Amino acid sequence: MNLRNIILPVASVLLAVACNSGSGSDANPVYKDPSAPVESRVKDLLKRMTIEEKALQLTQWHLGANDNPNNIITENDATRTLNPMLGSVIYTGEGSERRNLLQKRAIEETRLGIPIIFGYDVIHGYRTIYPISLAAACSWNPEMVRKCCAIAAREARSSGIDWTFSPMIDVARDPRWGRIAEGYGEDSYAASVFAAAAVQGYQGDDISSETNVASCLKHFVGYGASEAGRDYVQTDISDQTLWDTYLPPYEAAVKAGAKTLMSSFNLVNGIPGSSNDHTINGILRGMWGFDGMVVSDWASVSQIVTQRFAKDNDEASLMAIESGVDMDMGDMLYPESLPKLVEDGRLSIKTVDQAVARVLRLKFELGLFEHPYAPEYPDGSNLLAPEDVRTAEEAANETIVLLQNNGSILPLGDKVRKIAIVGPLAKDGTNMMGSWPGHGHGDEMCTIWDAFSSEYAGRAELLYASGCGFDSEDAEGFRQAVAAARKSDVVIACLGEPNTWSGESASRAFIDLPAPQQKLLEALHATGKPVVLLLVNGRPLELRNAVCNAEAVVEMWQPGIAGGKPAAGVITGRINPSGRLAATFPYTVGQIPIYYNRRHPARNGTMGYYLDCTVEPLYPFGYGLSYSTFEYGEITLSSDSIARDGSMTASVTVTNTSDRDGMETVFWFVEDPACSRVVRPEKELRHFEKQLVKAGESRTFTFEIDAMRDLSYVDGKGERFLESGEMSIIVAGRKASFNVL
Ligand code: BGC
Repeated sequence: MNLRNIILPVASVLLAVACNSGSGSDANPVYKDPSAPVESRVKDLLKRMTIEEKALQLTQWHLGANDNPNNIITENDATRTLNPMLGSVIYTGEGSERRNLLQKRAIEETRLGIPIIFGYDVIHGYRTIYPISLAAACSWNPEMVRKCCAIAAREARSSGIDWTFSPMIDVARDPRWGRIAEGYGEDSYAASVFAAAAVQGYQGDDISSETNVASCLKHFVGYGASEAGRDYVQTDISDQTLWDTYLPPYEAAVKAGAKTLMSSFNLVNGIPGSSNDHTINGILRGMWGFDGMVVSDWASVSQIVTQRFAKDNDEASLMAIESGVDMDMGDMLYPESLPKLVEDGRLSIKTVDQAVARVLRLKFELGLFEHPYAPEYPDGSNLLAPEDVRTAEEAANETIVLLQNNGSILPLGDKVRKIAIVGPLAKDGTNMMGSWPGHGHGDEMCTIWDAFSSEYAGRAELLYASGCGFDSEDAEGFRQAVAAARKSDVVIACLGEPNTWSGESASRAFIDLPAPQQKLLEALHATGKPVVLLLVNGRPLELRNAVCNAEAVVEMWQPGIAGGKPAAGVITGRINPSGRLAATFPYTVGQIPIYYNRRHPARNGTMGYYLDCTVEPLYPFGYGLSYSTFEYGEITLSSDSIARDGSMTASVTVTNTSDRDGMETVFWFVEDPACSRVVRPEKELRHFEKQLVKAGESRTFTFEIDAMRDLSYVDGKGERFLESGEMSIIVAGRKASFNVL
């Protein structure tokens, strides 16, 4: 990195002025004319720019520090020292003030007055924090995800953010990997549906609107396959699995209109993501026609050198830009390398221009040339609108997964008079937020204690003890927790993980409860009082030793601002739980990777089992209990055959046989009993639907099957094919077969 590029740009400005070809003398340039078509404006501006200005437009630096372990804290006066000709800045400040100061320099002090795009990791909320994506997927409610992303977009845009580095749509099947928290679980179809919903939420119909931001699909592609759940290490993905598992969410989100995409550092066929011509130029742009902007993940261009794929930074820059990486995040390599490479004849100016055009197009589309400044709300009145906080709570209500309910101990209702609320998470707001908490404030998250206090106000007495730390014992804490349990009718053990144990660079080799928490749980259970294990965490955990020390187990994930309210509502019975797992919970870490849609094995029966352990997970994909009971009818098909270009309907009736209204999610899987081009999994999700089924009533759930969309596969080259012959639909253990003609 060369600091000359980041700090005061006086020399560059002078140079730029000297190099000005003369086209800038035009008093009313086309690029400044809002009525001119975007393409004409882009073309006009491009022809006025020097190679140095172009390289800076292709560069992103940062203003302020976020909780990303890679980020460097910049000095307070960075608004004065940063180069205002940069294409983009990651803005981590709260409120628009500092952003506007820097923007003012870009508009007023630079030769062409090109506005800066300000980006930020608005991952699950800007200030109104909603559940982490892994939890959101368990709601099986994409409309709720859309709504939450729309709130995040509005809060962010009104705080000076034009662009979010979200959604993260990496399919992940290794719960040791901390970033599993950031995505929508283990299934590619589910991730595709949520990816599209998130894009629609962030971008709305028009990204120039003051309530929307540009979205960024990340991390292209296959980062979720990080070996052994470690971060930043190699990934080894077959072409077939790339197409079956990792690419579909990106394709869906590109179709949904995502404006930008982030290239990753992980390998595909031994080639780093940010120098991968095949995935970016070939698949993304060539096959899918993506015409948006590609930004590299943090420092992933210089990491091409670290990965020993390029010999130096110039070569890495050349590889990146030629592979289709338009903007370099966090490296500052392009301003140094690109002018040299063009001058030496190693890089064509056409390639540079294409990249710059994509950056400029995004700026025009965001309306930044007309409205470069963001509104300022020193009183924060643009944030935390009560209806938004309510929406975040409604979203969290649907993410809670009831994992165990022995003897129907839940809901507690009015069966209890004294409740012990114990554990390191009982009075904790900050750790309700999860990783990438945006500008959420820990003290704004409702703690579990506060939630129970209001839930049981005047109805039951609550006792508190922290018991232990996340990973530390406290003899006195233990004693107090056990004493509180003895005095109570029921114990709520609030255990799990702090924010920092999931997210980026937060892998765990052991994913059970740490020893002090497990010991506390056992001590509470030994009192003979019923124990409800209430889990706050950002990944599937290994729970086999925990669940036998609790009557009920409630997975509340990291819910955001609603904090303990949804879980308390489930435990008291105010809310009927409707969450279903979007990722498998292993029986033991030794089974990982474990997910529902493995390809068919070569031998069945007991072959391929472990000698010392079950092959079944503790809780499979789609699992989750309800206070209602549902009975499924048989699957009805509108026809026993389907034409290759045809459609048909499958339906199933679900009856709520209990006296409690409840929401049920129906998962529709497809099975191909013999596919001659590639071994398929036993079943693959192709559709899901969630509906409220009132007590005693029945609802019909339908799957409108489009043969090409829902029954075809893609081979390892991305070619779609549909074979004739028998196929089946599987729903809740029922199967219906038909013929593809
Ligand atoms: C992460 C991205 C993030 C970026 C900017 C990277 O290290 O992998 O997910 O968007 O930093 O903060």
